[in-house]
Amino acid sequence: MSDNEKIIAVAYNHSRKAGNPGDVWKHFILVALADVVAGKSGTFQYVETHCGAPVHRLAETGEWTEGIGAIPKGSIDDSGYLSIARDWLKTNQYPAGWVFTARQLARRFAGVQVHLFDTSRNVAAAYPPAEDLRLPGSVSVKFKRENGYLAVEQLAGPDLVFLDPPFHPDAKADWQSLVRTCSELRSRQINFAVWYPYEGDTAESQVLLDKTDSNSWEVRWASSGQRPGRRQKGCGMLVSEGLIPAMKALEEELTGMADRMGAELFIRQPVKQSR
Ligand SMILES: C[S@@+](CC[C@H](N)C(=O)[O-])C[C@H]1O[C@@H](n2cnc3c(N)ncnc32)[C@H](O)[C@@H]1O
Repeated sequence: MSDNEKIIAVAYNHSRKAGNPGDVWKHFILVALADVVAGKSGTFQYVETHCGAPVHRLAETGEWTEGIGAIPKGSIDDSGYLSIARDWLKTNQYPAGWVFTARQLARRFAGVQVHLFDTSRNVAAAYPPAEDLRLPGSVSVKFKRENGYLAVEQLAGPDLVFLDPPFHPDAKADWQSLVRTCSELRSRQINFAVWYPYEGDTAESQVLLDKTDSNSWEVRWASSGQRPGRRQKGCGMLVSEGLIPAMKALEEELTGMADRMGAELFIRQPVKQSR
């Protein structure tokens, strides 16, 4: 089968969702992890298997108004994530997760090598990025239009892999691919994180937790907030075993951000042995 045949066409466009509450939780945690995660050398190898376009233009009524646009200003505004995000909001833009993470990693590592994958033709057309991504020269970016689940299994020695599938049009297939790829990363002792939507049912995410011995930090929107009735009721960031101590050390910041999102924080763990 050729590489092109392996590409799964999906009708998913992240632009209308950019900066929504799910992005806030995801990107806040990625930036916080970038401040503490260990690398194997002076050049940090960061991978996103589902990277999306590098920058999104924000429409006046987009979902960002309920996400980054709704976070009250306060004492942690100078925290990495919020200060980067608010800088982009000034130009009505919101960057991809990897832009946040790479910028923060570049503060601690002499070099940052970013490996990006996405199957979408439209996303691929946005690489290499035409815009100034406000990144230091020590960050270099490689994009490939490939199935990220398969591509990361071929990559030698990433320091951190972030998996952010669309769970659309086939959420079940994404959960199955996550179990396969995360189990493979775990067997190579590679740190990974996964973002997922919470729609009231924890069965699929629990399987992933159980099979990979991960933990997850889930925020659930308050029932009166954010468009009651909408399917997504919250979201979670699952992290591999090696990142759990770092997440535990961030407890105060995580609770503070969940509060400001008007959400409740749940920490989930495996319920049975993985083997
Ligand atoms: C949720 S968006 C990514 C958002 C991005 N990670 C961020 O934080 O800004 C999901 C992306 O996955 C892409 N995609 C879907 N299936 C894929 C696959 N098998 N491999 C790689 N990318 C895929 C879609 O084209 C879409 O751009």
